[in-house]
Formats: sequence, C-alpha cells, structure tokens
Amino acid sequence: MKLPNLKTKLPKNRNIVKKPIGVPPAIAHFDKGLASIQDIIAPSSVEVDFRHIRIGETFYKTLFVVGYPRFISPNWLDPLINFNHSVDISMFCYPEASSDVLTDLRRKIAEMEATISSQIENGQDVDPKISAQLEDALAVQEQLAKGVERFFQFGFYITLSSSTTQELEEITKQLHATLSSMLLTAKAATLQMEEGFKSTIPMGRDSLYITRNMDTTSLASTFPFTSATLTQNKGVLYGLNEQNGSLIIFDRYSLENANEVVLGKSGAGKSYLIKLETMRQFMFGTEVIIIDPEGEYDALVQSLGGERVIFTASNPVKINPFDLSGMYEPGENELGLKILSLHGLLRIIMGNLDATHDAILDRALVETYRQKGITPDPATQSKIPPTMQDLYKVLLGYEDPNAQELAFRLEKFIKGSLAGIFNQQSNFDISNPLTVFDIKFLEEELRPVAMHIILDFVWTKVRKTLKKRLLILDEAWYVMKYEDSASFVYGIAKRARKYYLGLTTATQDVEDFLATDYGKAVLSNSSIQVLLKQGTSSSEQVGKIFYLTDSEKQLLQSAQIGEGLFFAGQNHVIIRIIAAPHEHQVITSDPKEKLKMEQKAVQDAIPEKPMNNTAQTNPQKTAESSQNINSTEAIRPPENLTTPIMPITNEVSNVASPPNKPTQ
Ligand SMILES: Nc1ncnc2c1ncn2[C@@H]1O[C@H](COP(=O)(O)OP(=O)(O)OP(=O)(O)O)[C@@H](O)[C@H]1O
Ligand SMILES: [Mg+2]
Repeated sequence: MKLPNLKTKLPKNRNIVKKPIGVPPAIAHFDKGLASIQDIIAPSSVEVDFRHIRIGETFYKTLFVVGYPRFISPNWLDPLINFNHSVDISMFCYPEASSDVLTDLRRKIAEMEATISSQIENGQDVDPKISAQLEDALAVQEQLAKGVERFFQFGFYITLSSSTTQELEEITKQLHATLSSMLLTAKAATLQMEEGFKSTIPMGRDSLYITRNMDTTSLASTFPFTSATLTQNKGVLYGLNEQNGSLIIFDRYSLENANEVVLGKSGAGKSYLIKLETMRQFMFGTEVIIIDPEGEYDALVQSLGGERVIFTASNPVKINPFDLSGMYEPGENELGLKILSLHGLLRIIMGNLDATHDAILDRALVETYRQKGITPDPATQSKIPPTMQDLYKVLLGYEDPNAQELAFRLEKFIKGSLAGIFNQQSNFDISNPLTVFDIKFLEEELRPVAMHIILDFVWTKVRKTLKKRLLILDEAWYVMKYEDSASFVYGIAKRARKYYLGLTTATQDVEDFLATDYGKAVLSNSSIQVLLKQGTSSSEQVGKIFYLTDSEKQLLQSAQIGEGLFFAGQNHVIIRIIAAPHEHQVITSDPKEKLKMEQKAVQDAIPEKPMNNTAQTNPQKTAESSQNINSTEAIRPPENLTTPIMPITNEVSNVASPPNKPTQ
C-alpha cells in the first residue's frame, strides 16, 4: 500500500497554520476589560512581613511544630482542635519506604550503641537520653521489620488570623501556652509567612516542608475529628449534632430493641421531642399509641387526624381491666397472668395489702372469673369477662372481715364518686393509627390506675396483632412510683421487641426513676436514651449511671431547651432538637405561642364583610356593626374553631363493640 504523500496534504497557504490557535485577538482584548471571578474574590492587597502576612484587612501568622511528646494517647490534639480562637491546621503525611528507613535506623542504632559503649569504657555514666532513644529506635526497628508499622514524615502547621497585629501576637502567646501543655513545641515560620499561609489553605500543597518521623500508630492518633457522628442512613431525624452539625438520624426499629427513654427536668423539651418523633414516625406508617396525663397531645391528634380518647366517668368510652386477650400462647397461662396484673392494679387502688389480704384477693379473683365460666382452659376465655362489680360482690360474699374490708376499699369504684369509669364492659377498640388516651380529666390519684389499665389494654392489643407500633408513656413517673406498675412497664420494655413495639418513656422525676430497680431496668432495656436539661442533683446521679464526664454533666445543667445528650448503644453525642416551623406550630406547648396561633386562626376565619344595602341606607347601623367587629365579642372564634374540651364526634364514632365480644 502506498503511503500518502504528506507534502501534498499540507495546506497551500502556510501562514494559516502558523497563526496562533485559540481565542481570536479581538475577543482576548475584549476579555481583558472584563472582571473575572478571581478579580472579584481577590483581596485588594497582600503584604508579606517577617512576622505575619496581611491579606486584605486580616493578618495571618503560621507556626510549624518541631517538637512532639514522647508518648501520645488517642485524641491528644483535642485541646488544639477546641482552641477558643479559629485556627487553620494543616497536616501533611509522606509515606516512606520501610527499607530506606530500616537502613537509616540500623546506622543510627549502631551509632547510639557505640556512644553508649564508649561512655561505659571511659567509666562515664550512660546518657539516659541516648539510652531512651536507643530503646525507641529498637522498638521501631522491630515493628517495621515485622511490617506491623509503616513509616511516615509528618508536617504540622497552624495558621492564626486576626484583624490587628496586637491581637494576633496575643493569640499566638495563648496558642504557645496550649501547645506547651500538650508537650508540643512550635515555632513561627519567620520570613516564610507566605509559604506558611499557602501551606494551610486547602490546596494540599506543602510549601514549608518541615517534617518529623512518625509511625502509623502515632500518625493515626493525630486524626483531628474528635467529635463522634451518630447516625444511620435511614430512620427519622432526631436533631442536629451540636459538635459538628451532622444530622442524627435513627431507625429505632433497627436497633436491638426499639425502646427509648427521655429524661429531663420540667420544661426541658421532653414532650416536644416525643411529639416531633411521633409526627415523623407516623409518616413512616408506624401506629402510635400515647398515654397522655397532661392533655397536651390534642393539637397533634387534630393535625394528624388521630383519635383522642378521654377518660371521665361520664364519657361513653370504657375499658374493663378484667378483659382477657383471648389469645393462647403455648406455655403461658393467660388467666394466671391476668390475675397477676389485676393484683398489681388492685394494690394501686386499695393501697398496700398484707399476706392475708393478698391471699383473699387471689381467691376472690379466681372465683370471680369462675362465676363467669372462665378457667385456665383457653377455650373458656372468650366468654364475657367479669367486671369490678363482680369482684366486689364476691368479696362481700365472703364472711371473713378481711374480705369485707377489701370490698369496702373497692366501693368507691362501684358505687361512689368514681363509679362508671372502670367497672363496665369494654366498648372500645383501637382503630385509628394515632390514638391518644387523655387522662387529664381524671383526678390525680386516679391517673396511675388509669395508666395501668390502659397499659394493660394496649399490651393485650399489641400482642393480638403484629404491627409496627410506638407506645408513648409521657410523665411515666405516675406509674413508675408504684412498684407493681413499674414492674409492668419493665415487662413491656423487655418483651416489646418481639411484638414490633417501641416503648417511649419520658419523665421529669429523674432521681426517683433512676432510684428504682425497675426504672434502671427500663433504661437498660432502651436502645435510645435522651438526656435533656438536668437539675444539679439529678445530673450527678445521671452522670454516675451514664458514665458522663464533668463537662458533660455541666452541659446538662446549663443546657438550653431542646438541648442535651443523645445515646444510641455505646455512643453519645450532643443533640439539638429542631423542628420545622410547620411542625413547631403543632407540637409547641408554649401558651403564648398557642394563643397567638389561635388568634391568627380566628382572624383568618372571619369572612370579609359583604357589601350591604341596608348599611348604605343606614349609616348608624354601619357604624354599629363595624364597632362590633372590633369588639372582643365579635372576634370570639366561630364554634367550629374553638378547641373542644372533649371532641365528642371522634369518640362516639369509635365506640364500637370489641371484636369477638358481644355487647352488653
Ligand atoms: N427543641 C425545641 N425547640 C423549640 N422549643 C422547644 C423545644 N423543646 C421544647 N420547646 C418548648 O419548650 C417548652 C417546654 O417543652 P415541653 O413541654 O416539651 O417540656 P417537658 O420537658 O415535656 O416539660 P414537662 O416535664 O413539664 O412536661 C414548650 O413551650 C415547647 O414548645
Ligand atoms: Mg412534657
């Protein structure tokens, strides 16, 4: 094949080829007159001095580290990283070939050994510095030869900045003091400030090249990120990591259990966190059940379309504590467990019982169920259960005065002021994915009873059908102060995982909660623990249990609202709980904010006044009506906008007969 004749391929006019390729000169000339990004961001001047460099209006000074401590521990650079003035730190690591280092080391070791032996020969004392160096060199040699360690050169530069030279010198002194406390020796890069500055900007260029030998372990311990990140790649957002601004995202159902404990003094932001988490979990299809002793979840229920179940004597919703789950689990005696749970409940209702009372009560409970045809045989357990009244009658039927006394103690729930709350057949079933049991309207002494009964009811429900659920026990101290209820809560915490349930307990009575064995057990059965602001004495106790450092204890004492420590497994970080404005509106319990929002809602709801013929003909009436609009009377919210104390519509629509049980 004939090769092409290159000569013939050349263009005829050779001048064209010689012309410069690229931007035509006219355009290049035009571009010169335009401002580039560099022109805009560049400082107006740079002044390089012996002791500093001034860029724009800021002075910079670079120091390099020449002396290092003999021993370092992990996180040894912490005082420098947390220095209370902004510093730019650069670290350069240059890997070295181990074979070269070993040759040098061998020579160095031989030198040191020779020095030591000549000192011995001359009858001199061996220089302890040399023997220490020899020891180090031998150790490094061994590690390198084995390949356990590698060898590096390490350059470490620090640049300080300030708006005045005086302040810069002042900060430099402070930095020297901090570095000395860490046994680091640093020198100013005098006459090399420009190189120093360039080495500490994020360009990865070491213009100083002042290095020191380091092995892998020592180098690893210089890793500067001392703040932990605690996050997963899925789940809900709990808040921001205050130390490094990262997000704390967790899927509690992916941990060993899905339980959470929130501890903090009153007003620390516990309920806020719980509500926020509820909203976010709800979006992921989790069914949420809340026991609310303070009646503060109303706005949340309304916003998420949930159901609020209110407990009062006159309310049609009833829960019978004698209900059986109707489930049969091999190896479990459902009736026995129920009787045990009723024992606990009755101890809360009746006060402490001695052995005789306990024995009578046990006999009476068995008898009460037996009279309804219910025995330990699972087949009998779908029959209509007894009520509190039936137990009362059984107790009255015994001739023993102790039994009479027990009946007497129970009387107020049957005939007295509290009749009608817990002594009727259940007529309610959880059907809404967000159900709040509001017990605010019950008297204080009844709340623990109600909470126990609701917990028992929910637990039965949870075990019946498997679903991803969250059970929230706000103000848990109501139940935790009674041993029987506390043990029940602990039982739930221990077994919740099997039923895809996450239990959240929040309490302000931190000391009492942590003083009981059950409280501690609930805590240790919770994968997520959140500590919000603490009082002085509770922070000490919390410090002991959570192994907190003094500064962490200090942090908890001085924490802002919504700030604290977030524990997941073995790790913890400082958390700031934040909500989006639309979430905040729903979950805030600040009365001032709520009032403002209510007023705004009212104003938005007032329809614009239509043009009115009468008004045109009757000026007096117009004046009157406009006065009315301005008066407080007129801006009272329309009926449908006021928050009903008891939203009857929701409840009545859900008063349904429970499945498998005929209505009375
Ligand atoms: N992270 C937060 N951001 C903004 N406001 C918050 C935050 N946490 C709580 N608040 C506000 O602080 C106040 C108290 O919060 P919250 O009701 O959650 O306290 P608490 O710890 O549950 O108190 P208590 O134990 O008395 O129930 C509320 O007005 C709430 O709106
Ligand atoms: Mg609260």
